[in-house]
Amino acid sequence: MRRVGIGAIALTAAALAHPQSTRAQSAGSLKEAFAGVFRIGAALNADQFSGVDARGAELVKAQFNTISPENVLKWERVHPQPTTYDFDPADKYVAFGQANGMFIVGHTLVWHSQTPRWVFQDAEGKPLTRDALLARMHDHIATVVGRYKGRIQGWDVVNEALNEDGTLRESPWKKIIGDDYIVKAFQFAHEADPAAELYYNDYNLENAPKRNGVVELVKKLKAAGVTITAVGSQAHDKLFLDSPAKHDTTIGALGALGVKVNITELDVDVLPMATRNRTADVSVRVQGQPGAASAVNPYVAGLPDSVQKALAKRYADFFTVFLKHRGVVDRVTFWGVGDGDSWLNNWPMPGRTSYPLLFDRKDLPKPAFDAVMGVARQARAGSKS
Ligand code: G3I
Repeated sequence: MRRVGIGAIALTAAALAHPQSTRAQSAGSLKEAFAGVFRIGAALNADQFSGVDARGAELVKAQFNTISPENVLKWERVHPQPTTYDFDPADKYVAFGQANGMFIVGHTLVWHSQTPRWVFQDAEGKPLTRDALLARMHDHIATVVGRYKGRIQGWDVVNEALNEDGTLRESPWKKIIGDDYIVKAFQFAHEADPAAELYYNDYNLENAPKRNGVVELVKKLKAAGVTITAVGSQAHDKLFLDSPAKHDTTIGALGALGVKVNITELDVDVLPMATRNRTADVSVRVQGQPGAASAVNPYVAGLPDSVQKALAKRYADFFTVFLKHRGVVDRVTFWGVGDGDSWLNNWPMPGRTSYPLLFDRKDLPKPAFDAVMGVARQARAGSKS
């Protein structure tokens, strides 16, 4: 893995204009704490890389050495119409990563979600043939990966192709092309940028049936001679679950196949379930009164100490597992920067007050941040003794 150099943290004009971010920096930096172990990253929204959220940008520069685009490289954003590509936001994302010497991730090329309906239809609205959809997939991958060749260093090639029982999801990709659409997507991505790392990315891989499914998928991809660098385990967690031990098993099982594991979308939801589904499926929606305190939105006024502590412990447990697998885990990326940015404020119900990340709504470090830094310190002390 290519390591990104970590320089001293400069107090830039923007940081001086935002003394809180300076306080955040004095707490130490995740990327320095885990230097030489794995990369540490965050998914960025457009405000953070286009100059709107200067405080957020400073925090990202201080803490992380790899970035993922939360939304701007999804098909519906970058390729909204058959002959229209909109690269402006993605260009800004890549420029931000390059200006700051970061490992830049692309998310995502082939997904059933956030992909316009026209992708799967001909001019008359009828389903495309296999060959026509393969041609469209090839054009999209060649155009998007080709544009950022040598600059985006790793791609989520296929996203969320598995059902919870480990079988292949009946997505339009699978229905029209067949099971080999995944092999084809990886081949097209490799052709477009032979040096790029290529990933399969999914959620709930810690659960046994889906773990078995992804293990089978990786074996099939390898048997087909496909380049697959890593599996991305999203790791959207919930505080009431008992997840770190399950992740331990999944990382071990995938590492044994000779692929790396990236933790790609880490967050820990502390709110009560608003739905019975234990999922990160963005199509799941629950109605509610945005912003109002309720049984499913209990922490509008702040997070109780007991929950804050439980969150810190969960993050410490997670990082203990990731460190145990330091030879397999290449990257740990959080799905957002501060709590205010998280998708979990609006999913599966709009307008909740969620606390899933290491930094609070003012971008200041939380006890969970200290807990993660503590795990890194202990590991360093242990490796010296
Ligand atoms: O930007 C528009 C805004 O202009 C508009 O007024 C508003 C009204 O709905 O929508 C805004 O866009 C929303 C966007 O998030 C930015 O907030 C979209 O509706 C909403 O669908 C989109 O949700 C994203 C979701 O993926 C679907 O693309 C989340 O931000 C993003 O965090 C989430 O990320 C996914 C990963 O890609 C894959 N794994 C699961 C993960 C979490 O669901």
